[in-house]
Amino acid sequence: MGIKIKITALAISILVISGCSNANSQPDEEMDHSMMNDEEMDHSMMDMDDDVMENEHMSHDEVVSLNDSTGENELKIPSMLERDNKEEVAYTVRAQKGKTEIFDGIETNTYGYNGTFLGPMLRFDKGDIVKIRTINELDENTTFHWHGLEVAADADGGPHDVIKPGEEKIIEFKVEQEAATLWFHPHPEGKTAEQVYNGLAGLIYIEDDNSTSLGLPNDYGKNDIPLIFQDKTFDDKKQLNYGAAMNDDGTIGDTLLINGTLNPKLTVKKEKVRLRLLNGSNARNFTFKLNTGDSFIQIATDGGFLNDPVALKEITLTPSERAEIVVDFSQLNTTNDLALINEDGSILLPFEVSDQSGKISRIPGKMNNFSLTEEEMNLPVTKKVELFGMMDQVTINGKKFDSERIDFTQQQGVTEVWEIYNKPDEMGGMIHPFHIHGTQFKIISRDGKEPPENERGWKDSISVQPDERVKIAIQFKHKGVYMFHCHILEHEDNGMMGQVKVE
Ligand code: C2O
Ligand code: CU
Ligand code: CU
Repeated sequence: MGIKIKITALAISILVISGCSNANSQPDEEMDHSMMNDEEMDHSMMDMDDDVMENEHMSHDEVVSLNDSTGENELKIPSMLERDNKEEVAYTVRAQKGKTEIFDGIETNTYGYNGTFLGPMLRFDKGDIVKIRTINELDENTTFHWHGLEVAADADGGPHDVIKPGEEKIIEFKVEQEAATLWFHPHPEGKTAEQVYNGLAGLIYIEDDNSTSLGLPNDYGKNDIPLIFQDKTFDDKKQLNYGAAMNDDGTIGDTLLINGTLNPKLTVKKEKVRLRLLNGSNARNFTFKLNTGDSFIQIATDGGFLNDPVALKEITLTPSERAEIVVDFSQLNTTNDLALINEDGSILLPFEVSDQSGKISRIPGKMNNFSLTEEEMNLPVTKKVELFGMMDQVTINGKKFDSERIDFTQQQGVTEVWEIYNKPDEMGGMIHPFHIHGTQFKIISRDGKEPPENERGWKDSISVQPDERVKIAIQFKHKGVYMFHCHILEHEDNGMMGQVKVE
């Protein structure tokens, strides 16, 4: 314990000196290690002003690990949004403010879509012509962004699509992409992080003939469970005080909510259960595993099914990434005290396994026909993206976001290779989750090597490690101006974002 505190304090002292922080985002081990070996750094710690160090220490130390879920509340399942009428696939989505009882008997001020906190699930079928009436009932500007959806830029809800308080906009698009778990959230310039933090986030399920015929668990809320992971800091009045909790390097909290549920547990039957994981947090990375060490099966990435199921013991998701996994509760060695845990062992979601046996579902051997062609692999790199910096000193290709500046242009329907490089600094740097709007892309390589099996599928967000170079093959099906950015929401708000114009 003493050692841990010392290391953390040491780490923080270096942060203070160099004016930047990566304590939140770099794997602890790696960081502690590099800190311990550096004698010079050790000396600077001795010189540190104790007060500054204590304060910084406190604020950082508090946010590092998550409290264990006690499992006292059954997980809430977002309702599936009803269509406006029977004739069309038309929805109304309202951004609202409200009060939510997250803690027993206490009202927390929150934001939500069509409710006080988070949003409903919108279900589309491939081929649907979808109409969404978006209404801003907040008293500040917002936008409605459909993360992962392949739509024309004027329906994408980026920072150019501001909807003022009391105003509304109807968007329309055809769903042409395959089955996937996507999500929606606001994207107003400089305010995305705060609005998401306060509760604006919802799910989109796209289904198609393939997804409904594979035989996978698909009983919504029963054996097909969405899990939106978000960490928050509640003040002593149990309020979300973004201004106080905010960290320029990504706001991290000690309290986990899943689908807005505090201390959640999930009751399941002895059957295969599909968990649709969404890292919906502002900045925290999660590495999910079962506390028994059992493996689970990943079936889908951000934008669709993997070709083949992949057995894993753990999976890391950086902010905005999704993965669908299947846990077979009829096959586990023990069902007592079973839980989904984070890398550091903190209990995220305890499972209560009932004696009932559930539905028979299967995980087919072949789920998709995703492919990366020779041609795509051999295309030259035509766009380079360099991610750099920390705190509010974050840039892409040395620049901060400027809504008037177009950084790249690309032809509609033409595949290009982008290379995303995370340039380290003296501190080593930190992971940046990199996201591109309006499209799903393919990972060609990570540092020249084939991506891991479970990333050989459609992606719209990727983690990029310090000094890592990721090549992707990307095509836009629609025209307009799209954002690309770091999905640590504070980095995005601090200008770690650029624009590509598709012509
Ligand atoms: Cu989740 Cu710019 O998006
Ligand atoms: Cu997006
Ligand atoms: Cu970043």
